[in-house]
Amino acid sequence: MGFGTDAVHAGQEPEPQTGSVTIPVFQTSTYQQAGIGDHTGYEYARTQNPTREALERNVAVLEGAKYGLAYGSGMATISTLAQTLKAGDHVICTNNVYGGTFRLFDKVYKNLGLTFDYVDTTEVDNIKAAWTDQTRLVFVETPTNPMLGITDLAAVSKIVHELGAKVVVDNTFMSPYLQRPLEFGADAVLHSTTKYLNGHSDMVGGILVTSDEALHEQMRFLQNAAGAVPGPWDCWLALRGIKTLHLRMQCHESNTRALATMMQDHEAVQKMYYPGLPSHPGHELAKRQQKGFGAIISFDVGSLDAAQRVVQTVKLFTLAESLGGVESLISHPAVMTHASVPKKDRDAMGISEGLVRVSVGVEDVEDLAADLKAALDRALN
Ligand SMILES: Cc1ncc(COP(=O)(O)O)c(C=O)c1O
Repeated sequence: MGFGTDAVHAGQEPEPQTGSVTIPVFQTSTYQQAGIGDHTGYEYARTQNPTREALERNVAVLEGAKYGLAYGSGMATISTLAQTLKAGDHVICTNNVYGGTFRLFDKVYKNLGLTFDYVDTTEVDNIKAAWTDQTRLVFVETPTNPMLGITDLAAVSKIVHELGAKVVVDNTFMSPYLQRPLEFGADAVLHSTTKYLNGHSDMVGGILVTSDEALHEQMRFLQNAAGAVPGPWDCWLALRGIKTLHLRMQCHESNTRALATMMQDHEAVQKMYYPGLPSHPGHELAKRQQKGFGAIISFDVGSLDAAQRVVQTVKLFTLAESLGGVESLISHPAVMTHASVPKKDRDAMGISEGLVRVSVGVEDVEDLAADLKAALDRALN
């Protein structure tokens, strides 16, 4: 089936009792049993929920995976993944990951005995250099947030498998419409469903999909045992959002290309990070690995003062954390999403005080371009 057909239908049969075309929100905590030990397969809603299962089946199909498991947030997903490891295990992680991922690893799982190295995974040799006998997991985010570095998923998967560990990819920035990491050999893919999959900025959730049965069974055990499950209503909202994922991504994409063209010639923009530009170091790789360049642009206007003027002038771009919704958002990574990353590390990665990130929505592109141009003009004086 084509992507759009799967987005609308995969994992969701009409409900048998009434024929309801959309999967109902099974808003229950428990299920009636006919006798002791005689149940329908549904016992308790932390363990099983039909609305959640529909979402899990749907995203698994979209990513080309056998199995999916949903969690209460993107962070709950990553946290559950970390719980598959044990004290002494070593993780190699993309250095420019989402700040919350770094915080979770550095402030929580490090205390519980996992060890971490953060390397620039856009250079595959950095992974080899950080390798130890205890390395069990390589956690890759590509493109990265907010610098949009591109990691070669096929090359990383090959090396990591030769060395004997697993590769898990945070595919939140791309969505399965633009990138399917399992096709390049990754062992599992995860998403903050809060972002493009839901696409309407009205829920928080996460999901991990894989065809690795052992990893799936561990993640399933932990979904129930540690209990970081999403509510059925949020799963339903994610499922509804996914039905238009392909349409939204096409619009996000083309809007972003147009804005990038306008911005690259603007005097206020001192540096621009967008994989769609031929000058971007990951441009050729992105063309091979992705079906498009995504809808995030980061750009440096030189100072906190200029960044303040940009975010205060825009009217259509809402100043807010997050990304991937139909509405355009603007944020200041150093203060907002990446404050937990030490300043020296932020500086080394280019997350300067003048850096601004936009998540381009699906509004009319002429309106977005006019709004952003006015804000960039304002950054100059
Ligand atoms: C790339 C990436 N991964 C994970 C997360 C965390 O997801 P959530 O906010 O749903 O916990 C985010 C949130 O911004 C993100 O941008």
